[in-house]
Amino acid sequence: MMYKNPFTPVFGNEPPILAGRQRMIQDVITGLDNGPGDPNRVTIFTGPRGSGKTVLLATIAAAAESMGWISVHATAMPGMLDMLIEQIEEKGAEFLSVEQSGGVTGVQVSGFGITRELPDRKSVSFRTRASRYLKELEEQHIGLLITVDEVSADVPEMITLIDSFQHFIRERREIALLMAGLPNNVLQMFQHESISYLRRAFRKRLDSVSIPEVRMAIEDTVKLTGRTIDREALSVASEATNGFPFLIQLVGFYMFSQSDRKKISLEDAERGIEIAKIDMERMIIDSTVRALSDRDMDFLEAMSRDEEYSNISDVAKRIGASASLASHYKRRLAEQGIISSVGRGKIAFNIPMLKTWLRERGEQ
Ligand SMILES: Nc1ncnc2c1ncn2[C@@H]1O[C@H](COP(=O)(O)OP(=O)(O)OP(=O)(O)O)[C@@H](O)[C@H]1O
Ligand SMILES: [Mg+2]
Repeated sequence: MMYKNPFTPVFGNEPPILAGRQRMIQDVITGLDNGPGDPNRVTIFTGPRGSGKTVLLATIAAAAESMGWISVHATAMPGMLDMLIEQIEEKGAEFLSVEQSGGVTGVQVSGFGITRELPDRKSVSFRTRASRYLKELEEQHIGLLITVDEVSADVPEMITLIDSFQHFIRERREIALLMAGLPNNVLQMFQHESISYLRRAFRKRLDSVSIPEVRMAIEDTVKLTGRTIDREALSVASEATNGFPFLIQLVGFYMFSQSDRKKISLEDAERGIEIAKIDMERMIIDSTVRALSDRDMDFLEAMSRDEEYSNISDVAKRIGASASLASHYKRRLAEQGIISSVGRGKIAFNIPMLKTWLRERGEQ
């Protein structure tokens, strides 16, 4: 008998069971319930690759829709505002007085067919269009949730969106804006002077999930399929993820596919972890490392010689840097979510296996 593998080691794919994150989801949902003015209605999620940002946005959007909100989604890039408007028109079709004949997609009508309304519509700014729809939705007690993934200050439309949003908030509209991005990009956005408003947004870091929460998620995911898992296998697998969401799926996936027996054994788990490690290295570590400077790498390499954590002063000595230079590197790496402070003058790796990878690399 073949069991269908329930794990989703694919970026952006919603897992059947979410590990942790309940609090973050609940905060936003409460904010939507609460009404205009609730600070949770402008939230930015930050976290390294694979920490679950995209999935979190999608999960909250689904919850909002089940509360009767309309949710629209875009990735920060040119054209995003049009995409948002299109989705509002589509999802709000039954509530809005939009002329649906042709709609925005009227462009498809080729040649002379280009509609009378299109040039006009283009020239109407995002803010005006969105504002009109917001009023109409509000009359029917429908809120609008906008989620934007991969935010970056380099996208001018992002600035327009935030600027418009600021006005909607001032008008006390039923609207919420959730954003997600890599720590560095979010930081840059916050420094952009024309959207200082954003500094008021709640910034939430997607840290690693606690091991007990990982345990529960893995066990529940396995159970969905009718299989079970050996207790020790569950412990070993949970620990191996270090609470990192992508690894939960990766370890789960490979462990699950080791055999067809009803019960997942310790041996299945151990073999699954091995394969997951290789995949993890390829997918996450490579892309993370590529974004780092040589000096950052030296710093991390120096850190990798320690066991549980490193003293910044030791690391500084090893790379021959002054204390202030070392703390500058430390801050930068922490902002990117690669390391974090674990007490006075102490730092540790956030990304599981990056340390092992650095060590093995050093030995070559
Ligand atoms: N809370 C969670 N519990 C279990 N698995 C999760 C959780 N969140 C995300 N995942 C899994 O982790 C992987 C990465 O999730 P996601 O694509 O949301 O990450 P991301 O932070 O958006 O990454 P990127 O920065 O590359 O876009 C996916 O395989 C997803 O199924
Ligand atoms: Mg993502």
